[in-house]
Parts: sequence; C-alpha cells; structure tokens
Amino acid sequence: MPPATRPKVRAVQTVTIKSTPIDGQKPGTSGLRKKTRVFMQPGYLENFVQAIWQGIGGPKGKTFVVGGDGRFFNDSAIQIILRMAAAGQATRVIVGQNGLLSTPAASHLIRLRGTDGGIILSASHNPGGPDEDFGIKFNMANGGPANETLTDRIFAATQTITGYDTLQTPDIDLARLGETHLGDMVVEVVDPVTDYAALMETLFDFDAIRGWFQSGHNMRFDAMHAVTGPYAKEILERRLGAPKGTVLNATPLPDFGGGHPDPNPIWAKPLVDMVMGADAPDFAAASDGDGDRNMILGRGVYVTPSDSLAVLAANAHLTPGYAAGLVGVARSMPTSGAVDRVAKARGMACFETPTGWKFFGNLLDDRRITLCGEESAGTGSNHVREKDGLWAVLLWLNILATTGQSVTTLLADHWRAFGRNFYSRHDYEAVDSDTATDLMNGLRAKLATLPGQSLSAGQIVDADEFAYDDPVDGSRSAGQGLRVMFDTGARLVFRLSGTGTEGATIRVYLEAFTDDPARFGDTPETALSAIIDSAETLMPIKSATGRKGPDVTT
Ligand code: G1P
Ligand code: ZN
Repeated sequence: MPPATRPKVRAVQTVTIKSTPIDGQKPGTSGLRKKTRVFMQPGYLENFVQAIWQGIGGPKGKTFVVGGDGRFFNDSAIQIILRMAAAGQATRVIVGQNGLLSTPAASHLIRLRGTDGGIILSASHNPGGPDEDFGIKFNMANGGPANETLTDRIFAATQTITGYDTLQTPDIDLARLGETHLGDMVVEVVDPVTDYAALMETLFDFDAIRGWFQSGHNMRFDAMHAVTGPYAKEILERRLGAPKGTVLNATPLPDFGGGHPDPNPIWAKPLVDMVMGADAPDFAAASDGDGDRNMILGRGVYVTPSDSLAVLAANAHLTPGYAAGLVGVARSMPTSGAVDRVAKARGMACFETPTGWKFFGNLLDDRRITLCGEESAGTGSNHVREKDGLWAVLLWLNILATTGQSVTTLLADHWRAFGRNFYSRHDYEAVDSDTATDLMNGLRAKLATLPGQSLSAGQIVDADEFAYDDPVDGSRSAGQGLRVMFDTGARLVFRLSGTGTEGATIRVYLEAFTDDPARFGDTPETALSAIIDSAETLMPIKSATGRKGPDVTT
C-alpha cells in the first residue's frame, strides 16, 4: 500500500482552452527563461507545456518527474503542469515535496525511476520573485536537458499552437508525501533529498569525510537561500557529521532572500571574504538557485571553475565512485584548457563542446567521458545528466580527506604538474541587442584576416567561429562563439549569452597560460592584462557601449 492514498477523483472533464502562438518561446542555452510576470500571463506557461507535449509526441501513457528550485511561481507552475499532464493522460508524475527538486536530483530521479523525462522549473542562478526571473525546461529519459532536435521541435510547436488541454480541479497538496490521483493520473510526492543522498553515498567515501571533520577540519557551505539547503543539511550535517551551522542560508526562499543565488566571487562575496579573513575555514563552497553550480574555496584561495574541473579530473580516481579511472573528459569551449593538460598527461580522451550541459549528454551516454564541466561553475559526471553542485563539493571533500592536503597545496601541486591557465570572464549585461549583434558581426567579418597579426597578448595563430560536430549522433551545432588563439597559449572567446532575459549579454572569456613556476603566484589581473587589452582591440565593446568596463567579472 502506498503511504497515503487519497480517494480517486474520477470522471474529471478535460477542457480544451483555445490559444494562439506567443512570440519568443524559443528555448535558449537551458530551456525557456523569461521574467516571472511573463510566465504568469494566462496561457504563457500553458502554451509552452503544450508545445513540450507536442515535441515529445504527447504525454499519454508516460511518466514524468516535475520539480523546481522553489522560486516564486514554482508551486503554481507545478499545479498547471500536473493538470495538463493529467489532461494529456500521463500515467504518473513524481513531484518533489513542496515542489522542490534540485536540478541534479531531478535528473537522478528521472534515471532512477526510468521515467520518460521530466520538467524542471528554474532560472538557475538568476534572482527570483514576481519581478525577477523564471524558467522551464524539459529533460529527456536519460535525465539530461532536451537536445537541440527536441528543443527545435518544441519551438516549432509554440508557433502553431491552437489550444491546450487541462482539467478544472483543485490544487494538489504538494506538502503531503505519498500518492494521490488527478483524474486517472497518479501524482507521487517524494522527499526530494532521500534518493539523491543515497546516490552520493555510493560515490564517495563517507567514512573518510566524516573522519576529516572529526579530526578538526571545518567547512562552510552557502546554500544562498536556494534549493540545496535541505540537501546540504542532510548530507553534510546529518550524514557526514559536520557541526550544525556548517550550512549557511539553508532555508529555500521564493526570492532567495532578495539575493542573487549565483555562486561566484561577486554574488557569494560574504563567503569569499570569510575564507580570505582570519579564522577562515579549511574549505568552503556554495551552490546556485537550482543546485547545479558550485564555487570552491579554500583557506585564502578561490579555485576557478576551470581549475576545479582539472583538479577533479586529476584526482577523482582517489574516490570510490571513480576508482576505476576516467574514460575521458569534456569541457565547454570557453572553459580553460587546464583539463586538456590533465587528459593529455593521463592519455584520456578530451572533448570540446558548445556552451550548455545538453552537449555532454551524448558523450556520457556513449561512455566516452566520465567527467565534464564548464567555466560557469558547472562540474559533473556520469552519475546524472546535469551538472551537480553538491556532488562537486563532496568530490573535493573526499579528495581533501584522502590526500590530507589543503586546497592551496593541492592547487600548487597541480600547477607544478600541469602548468597554470589563468582565467577570467567579463560580462557586459543588458547591452542593446543591435549593438551586441553589430559587435559580433564586426569581429566575425575579420576572423580570416587575423592570423599573423600581433597584439599585446602575442601573435594570433588561429581565429574561427566555433562549430561542434557531435561524434555520437553526427549533428552539427554552428555559431557557438568566436575564438582567437595566440602563440603564447593565450586565448580569447566572445559569445552572446543564451540565458539572458533582458537585451543581450556579451561574454568575453580570457585565458593565459604559463608553465613558469615563477609566475604561478601572479595575480589573475597581472597575468591577464595583455589579453584584456587585446580583447578591446578585437571587439571594441567599451567604446561601442560607452561603458567603462564589464558589469560582472568572474
Ligand atoms: C550560461 C553559462 C553556461 C551554462 C548556462 C546554464 O549560459 O554560460 O555555461 O550552461 O548558463 O547554467 P549562457 O548565458 O552563457 O548562454
Ligand atoms: Zn543552475
């Protein structure tokens, strides 16, 4: 018997609501992201959900996972989706209690329960609230974000929509664990943490990490009032024995406490200040709105996401889940080449994919890679098909516990072995869309003439627009960012964000390499000054936008 079976609500009438296409429902890097009020317009979310149903060949007879990061409108959106799934004759929908599921936990549930996919509600690290951001994406049966073929089908469906089916039923109680019925469909409300925590126990040496805490080491985890709070409390404080208070800002709030739940040195500054100050913890980390991003810090040190990926690739074999070694690694194109150096030294395959987690799915499914990551604070492995913030934190903890090293010495040893890739990203946000397009077009038009030219960062050896040929399904993704490579090993990448909700965001990715130990201690500002200068020469963003510098530097 299921724990809480409510009487079946039978013979509920499906109603078809007439609707017409809404402009701009094109999924971006990670699903559809818009201002929350846009999503709250009658029919807006419904149209997109109907388009998802059409894209996947209808929900009839299928099972899904549905959950989100708890941001404002999460609960109402879930009720809308449940009614539409029931009206479309889905068999079962598994929902996280109170509508909560971190993105990696949703990915895991889809795989664990063998569902036909899932719908995740989140705008990731963007602020939440009625005047902030909301988002929705569909993940496929492998647990990963819909591939481009599917998002194209969904977008096409949004352009021809004539109506959607729903029920006129009261809201389901999402606080109550167990099964209930909506029409003929079963709604199963599950604890969002249990299955995920169990998965983590299979991957990591919890005894070793517990011992690390017992021997007096300490850490802080900033959940930023977002979805990882309950996960981190259960795993770090309850199962691993970290003292109470290790997890900061642990209660998920619909507006993330008014903050920007983005784990980087700008938005998680209090945590960075803590590790840079007196009495700093040995280790600190943060995760984002939906729990897929991570920031890694040690006493007195910030680890760039690109370096974190490389250090994890070099040391993962020290932990139980990866003891057999890695079959290969992958990084998104703008991510630094630090992990490539590990792969080369260890004889592992290394893939360079476009920005966005969806491109890792095929490589993971086809067992060509074990670990992958992005410069935007995303790291993950074959354990799910999303990046996973807490997983990265636990992998770091396991490595610290097993090696007995500090974050600083681990990083120093890493650079000595592989060289150091200095890295930073400059974002120019809410730029007028035409200006941004003109800037990109301007550089694109000169790419062929660049090789051979000398700028402050060195001589340009190559310049192109990145395109990716998926080695598994043969699909081609073109127009994935402009790249300029220098003879010094430095590299510049320019691309437009695919997740913004206002105007255009230009991202400039800056990288310089050294294998001279005397320079490992340079500040990123010093090491990157020449490449920053060359960036403005190649694409005059400051002069075209009249800005003094980037809005966000990570
Ligand atoms: C950004 C990041 C990208 C990440 C995505 C979703 O996309 O750059 O790496 O996968 O968010 O978290 P962008 O806005 O650059 O298109
Ligand atoms: Zn996220």
